[in-house]
This record gives sequence, C-alpha cells and structure tokens, in this order.
Amino acid sequence: MNLKTTLLAGLLCLAGIAHAIEKPVIKIETGNTSLIYRVGDNGRLYQSYLGKRLNHEADINHLPQGTEAYLTHGMEDYFEPALHIVHNDGNSSTLLKYVSHDSRNLSDGVNETVITLADDQYPVTVKLHYVAYANEDIIKTFTEISHREKKPVMLHKYASSLLHLNHDKYFLTEFAGDWSHEANVMERELAFGKKVIDTKLGARANMFVSPFFQLAVDQPSEENAGEVLVGTLGWTGNFNFTFEVDNKSQLRIISGINPYASEYSLPSGEIFRTPEFYFTYSLNGKGQASRNFHDWARRYQVKDGDQTRMTLLNNWEATYFDFDEEKLIGLMDEAKKLGVDMFLLDDGWFANKYPRSSDHQGLGDWIETADKLPNGIGRLTAEAKKHGIKFGIWIEPEMVNPKSELYEKHKDWVIHLPNREEYYFRNQMVLDLSNPAVQDYVFGVVDQLMTKYPDLAFFKWDCNSPITNIYSPYLKGKQTHLYIDYVKGLYKVLDRIKAKYPNLPMMLCAGGSGRSDYEALKYFTEFWPSDNTDPIERLFIQWGFSQVFPSKTLCAHVTTWNKDASIKFRTDVAMMCKLGFDIKMSDLNPNEQVYCRQAVTEYNRLKPVILEGDLYRLVSPYGSNHTSSMYVNKNKNQAIVFAFDVYPRYGEHILPVRLQGLEANKMYQVKEINLMPGVSSSVNGNGQTFSGEYLMNVGLDLFTGYKLNSRIIEIIAQ
Ligand code: DGJ
Repeated sequence: MNLKTTLLAGLLCLAGIAHAIEKPVIKIETGNTSLIYRVGDNGRLYQSYLGKRLNHEADINHLPQGTEAYLTHGMEDYFEPALHIVHNDGNSSTLLKYVSHDSRNLSDGVNETVITLADDQYPVTVKLHYVAYANEDIIKTFTEISHREKKPVMLHKYASSLLHLNHDKYFLTEFAGDWSHEANVMERELAFGKKVIDTKLGARANMFVSPFFQLAVDQPSEENAGEVLVGTLGWTGNFNFTFEVDNKSQLRIISGINPYASEYSLPSGEIFRTPEFYFTYSLNGKGQASRNFHDWARRYQVKDGDQTRMTLLNNWEATYFDFDEEKLIGLMDEAKKLGVDMFLLDDGWFANKYPRSSDHQGLGDWIETADKLPNGIGRLTAEAKKHGIKFGIWIEPEMVNPKSELYEKHKDWVIHLPNREEYYFRNQMVLDLSNPAVQDYVFGVVDQLMTKYPDLAFFKWDCNSPITNIYSPYLKGKQTHLYIDYVKGLYKVLDRIKAKYPNLPMMLCAGGSGRSDYEALKYFTEFWPSDNTDPIERLFIQWGFSQVFPSKTLCAHVTTWNKDASIKFRTDVAMMCKLGFDIKMSDLNPNEQVYCRQAVTEYNRLKPVILEGDLYRLVSPYGSNHTSSMYVNKNKNQAIVFAFDVYPRYGEHILPVRLQGLEANKMYQVKEINLMPGVSSSVNGNGQTFSGEYLMNVGLDLFTGYKLNSRIIEIIAQ
C-alpha cells in the first residue's frame, strides 16, 4: 500500500468513525432478540428492528431506517403519539433529537441502555431506558421526562414505551372480564385504526381487564410456534395499551399510564418517570413467552420471588363475617390437622362503634371488635403458635365505610366530591392517598398491627372499590393529578412497609384480581386471581393469568364452590398454583379429610416443581372438554402433569396428552399421585417406564369420558 492509499484508507476510516459517532446504532439485545435503534440524517431516533436476534454486525447497515422511536405530538406523524407536551408558550409540539446513549451492566446478564433525546427549541429532555435480561429474553423499558422551562409544562401523553412492528397481519389477545370472571382469553385480528385496552377505575384498576396482552404477527398465536410479543405494564392504576395500524399496515404499540383525565403539570427540574413496561418477543409462541416471564419474575421482580410459598387455611368462605374467638380457634385446629403452614383471618375482625358485621360498616376502624375477639388478635396469634402454625390477617387500609369512626373524624381524607351526593361501591369509599397524612395513616395500619402483634406473619391486602366520587380534597387545583398521585402515594406506603418489614409476605387482593401487575408484585408475594373459586372457572382463570405470572404468585383455594366437583377435582385444580383452603374441614367426610391432608403433604413435596419449574400448557380449556398443563423442573428429571375432564361428550374421540419439556433420551417412570384413599390408578402405563421421546410424541391416555374427573401424574427420571 503506498502512502496515498494509506492516507486515503485512514481518512475513510476516520470518516466511518465520525459517521458512526454522528449516527450511532443502538442495540438492545437479549439472548434471542434484538431491538435496534438508529439515528437518521436528521438527528432523530428510529426503531430499525425488533425481532429474532441479529448476530452479524455487518447486516445492521442494511436495515431500513424504520419509524421514529418515540413519536411526539405536533410534528409530521398523523397517528397516535407517545408524548404530548404543552410548553410555557402554549406551543404543543415537541421534536426530539438524539443527544447520547450509554450502556452498562447492572449485573450478570442484565444490561441497561439509556438513550437521551432533547428538543432543539425547548429545554425538554427525554430519556428512554431499556433494561435487557439476556437469559430470560425480557426487556424492561421506561421513560424519564424533564425540562428547564420557567414554569411547569403540561404533560398530556407520556408513554412508557412505543414499539413498532411491520408485518403482514397482527393478532391481539386481551384478557378481559369482570368480577368473578377474570382474564378471559380473547384473540382477534387488528385492522386499520386503533384498538385501545385501558382502565379508568383508579384503585381496583384491573377489575375489567388485566394489564397484559399478546400480539402475534402474521398468524394467530400458537402455544409453541410463531412470533409473539407479550407485554405488561407495572402500574397499580389506570393503564392504557394502544395498538394502532396505520395506512402502511405498520403497527405501533403504545403502553403506559392511561392519560385519561390525567394531564400532569411537571415543574422545571423535576423528572416524570413513567411506569415500567416489560415485554418479551418469543420466537416459539406463547408457551415460551410465559416461561420467559416466569423465570424473570421469580429472579428479578416478585417479592421473595426465589422463595417458596406458605399453604394456608383462610376463614372467609368458612365463616364470612360470622365468627368469634372460639370458632377461629376451632378452624386453627383444622388447619393444624390439615397440615397447612398458616391460618389466615379474613374480613370482619375489627371496629367497635360500627362493628364490621357486614360490608356496610366499620372499614377504617382497625381495632378488634371487642365482643367477637375479647382477647384481641394477641390471643389468636398465641393460639396459632400453640398449634405450630403461622397467623395472617386481612386488611383493606385504603378504604373507608361512611359508617365508621374514621369517616366521622376525617372526611377530609376521603376522595369525594364536595358538592355532590356520595356514590358508594360496595358501601365504601377510597381514602386520598395523594395526601401524605393519609399515607402515614395507611402505613400505620400495618405498622401498628405489627408493633402490637409481632407474630403476625402475613397480610392479605384487599381493595374492593374503584376510585369513585373523583375529587381529592388535598390536591385542590390539581385534580388531574389524582389518579397518578394516588398510585404514587400507594407506592410510598408500600416502600415504607417493605423497608421496615422486609420479610413480611403479603397477598394482593382487589375483590379478585382487580390488581395484578408487576410493580405491585415488587411488594407482594402473591395475588388473588378471582373470588370465583369454582374449579371449572379457575381452570380458565389460571390459564389466563399463567400467560404472564408464575404459579407461585397465583393463590388458589379449595372452597365449596361447585359441589358437583369432587374434593379431589377442586384440590387438584388448586394444586396447580399456590395452594390454600377456604372451607370448613369438618363439613368434609373422613375420607375427604384424609385425602386433603395427603394432598397438602404431596403439595409440599412437589412445591419445587410446581412453584419453580417450567410450565407447559398442553391442552387449552378453551374450545375443549378437557385441559392439561405440566410443570418440569429445571434439570428435567421430575415433572407433574395435571389433566382434567370437564364435560366430555358422549362418544367423543379422546386423544392422548402429549407431554413437553422432557429430555427425549431420558427414561421416565409414570405414576399417578394424589388419589382418593383406597382408589388405585386407572391410568394406562401407570408405574411403567417410557422415554421422554415417547411421552412427548405418543403421549399418555390421561383424559377420560367422565365428567369432572381429574388426574395428577408424576414423571420421574430413572
Ligand atoms: C374480597 C376478597 O376478594 C375476598 O377474598 C374477601 O377477602 C372479601 N373481600 C372480604 O371482604
């Protein structure tokens, strides 16, 4: 090479570097996926790619520029923006240009990239955060918005995430329903225009729809094939997912807080941090997406995600409000005999002026009702100790009945319209958590109970009302902050509880799954998916929630709902998740009682597989008279298969259940477990040994023509 060519090559190389510096490529990568951003000639940020991981560096330059990453209101785009700010001068346009980006390792396999964008006319900065979890294929994203204008700017839209997809077709699955009818799986194709999934309920925000979705591209979603993006928002309040197909058949997915009635005034120098949006892009269908979420949630997100869970006996359906000390101690005897870890005292233990004898009164007065519990909670925790079990307690600290001393004393703490008649949902109202004094009070509910009764080992935190009578006495002129500041106030309280009582497990409940999101699960070990405990309904509800939440977070109780189903069927359904009982054991016959005791023992033995293993959903209850799922432990030497016949047709063609997730070349013994006392297995092949290959390709005859029949099979490597 002569001097001239060397110099030329050097110059070209420098130009290349300069080019790269000017127009960086930003790759957010997990083990199997890439999300790639590039800066255009105009200095703006574009999403060039989202999909299967691209491993050849040289290919990146061939990628099309794509669509602007975080679209803003007021510029050339004609569809839904991620950001809409009204500046001090009344101008409501924002144009974001790339400023810098930075990437760092947070821990082994976890990498955070922050892309900083800024407007060139207004001192507004937007930071896009992406935390990539390499092994779990999860990306967590959120946005920070700040400015240096003289006066506060008004945020009208402030998405956590905007993702673009460019495919032939899009199929959206949503998880909607109502009280006792949660998380129904419903898939439909998206056409031009918008589909919005959102909620405006404030506190019990997810009563009608859960904050997660599945978006399959090109073809409807499948369990084990096809590309599907599964996303969920960590926000315990109003959320919004907007799916918009534009004129070029490109799809944008905007996720975040629901901006409805929530314009937010942001002072200079303060940061508005959006909630986190978590997503996985599975190349192998919904099953893989679920396993990605489960692994990630257990490892990084859920409170005590790496720890086991307690079995329990809850008194709610056994007594409702009708109990006293002796009755509860009797139930503790039953809990002890049953072999569960804990007794959970539900609603109805508090208030004296207006005793909580029904849901019409008492909420807010967290002192034991003297005639029901003359010796207080202390006697109960002492009894639990004697019984060798833990004691947990129900609270609903964010709410108040108008018939309560709290309401009489502190009407100013209640969200209510000053000039209108009050409207009640479940005879109650919501306390104003935007008010720091109310935050102190709500924290105090837990803190005082824990201080007085340090043996309390568990809380069930309920929340039965949406925000009604929407006006905060505290926020005065800033009413559009209420929905957001309520949730922020809740997190402040939960942060304090977690800091002071880091080892206190808590169940999140909102009259069923009116709350079920991954931000809340940083504070809660589990949640109550539905008040509906009919085992048939639970097969559907658990199927729905299992799409994103691991089994250890889904409380499942055996109750008297649907007495047509045997105690075995009811228990087998509950054993797929976090097992509990909410039933009077004395109402069961001796055989059933023996069965339940054995089931608890079996469950304890199988917890490592059921709670920590990989879930494979084998046969969907939707459109079928049967359903089956299985858990496989990580080293694939033990698996538990659950199989249910719901309502088989006469003469139906029944197929074997093909297992998944095993090792083809391992030999496994098949054994039916959890049988009623004295009943022997009728499963073909019970006690015999098969290869994983056989079990996964030929399968086992686990379904029958009997109504409401259930089977649990243990698969053990030889
Ligand atoms: C609603 C919950 O979902 C139930 O489990 C029970 O705790 C009641 N509230 C008590 O009022």
